[in-house]
Amino acid sequence: MMRRKLVVGNWKMHGSRAANATLLQGLLQSRPFGCDVAVCPPFPYLADVASTLAATDLRWGAQDCSVHTQGAYTGEVAPAMLAELGCRYVIVGHSERRTLHGESDQLVADKAKAALACGVTPIVCVGETRAQREAGQTEAVVKRQLSCAIHTLAHCASEMVVAYEPMWAIGTGLTASPEQAQAVHALLRQQLRAATPRADGMKILYGGSVKPDNAAALFAQADIDGSLVGGAALKAVDFVAICRAAG
Ligand code: 13P
Repeated sequence: MMRRKLVVGNWKMHGSRAANATLLQGLLQSRPFGCDVAVCPPFPYLADVASTLAATDLRWGAQDCSVHTQGAYTGEVAPAMLAELGCRYVIVGHSERRTLHGESDQLVADKAKAALACGVTPIVCVGETRAQREAGQTEAVVKRQLSCAIHTLAHCASEMVVAYEPMWAIGTGLTASPEQAQAVHALLRQQLRAATPRADGMKILYGGSVKPDNAAALFAQADIDGSLVGGAALKAVDFVAICRAAG
């Protein structure tokens, strides 16, 4: 099945109003892309980004959200607030949140469910550490992570986007080879097929040191439907080149 590709820039904790404006102008000038493109800035910039990208074909999203709808949760951001700002996506369970903030599979799945309830598409991240890969546990780890999201989302599972981000490839310059990534994507697709008849229409993104020079080979794989880009999403020329490789 031909799935339209999706390239998402995860800006992580980078940017400034001036730098964001330059980056977004660079992206806007390079349209149209032959794929769906989104950027996920830090929370304080979402309103700016939303007004710059409103009425364009570029989309935006957040890097995290709360499981709660509202209340006494200092520092948290509710999915309904993201929806109000026009966020199409929210990344949940990024490995940096799982590791640095101790987020569990269930918390990540609950965030995904809360986002969907507000009409925001969760991008659910899964991925193994280098030690887990070396111990032959990759399949078990990613299946456990995805399984929690599948069961929690139940009949809405087909609405999520999945991102496979091997932790040893994030920010390291070590990309999974297209074959290594495809092997895991195929497993994830199989797992989705067992859960929903819509699995073939779902997007599974690859993330981890995606650059202009390795993007095309990754995108050529049968089950790689785009990417979640970190470092290379901060430079317009690089991000544009990756989007073009997906189109
Ligand atoms: P890098 O592209 O910088 O390796 O980051 C990947 C990532 O974590 C995207 O969410």
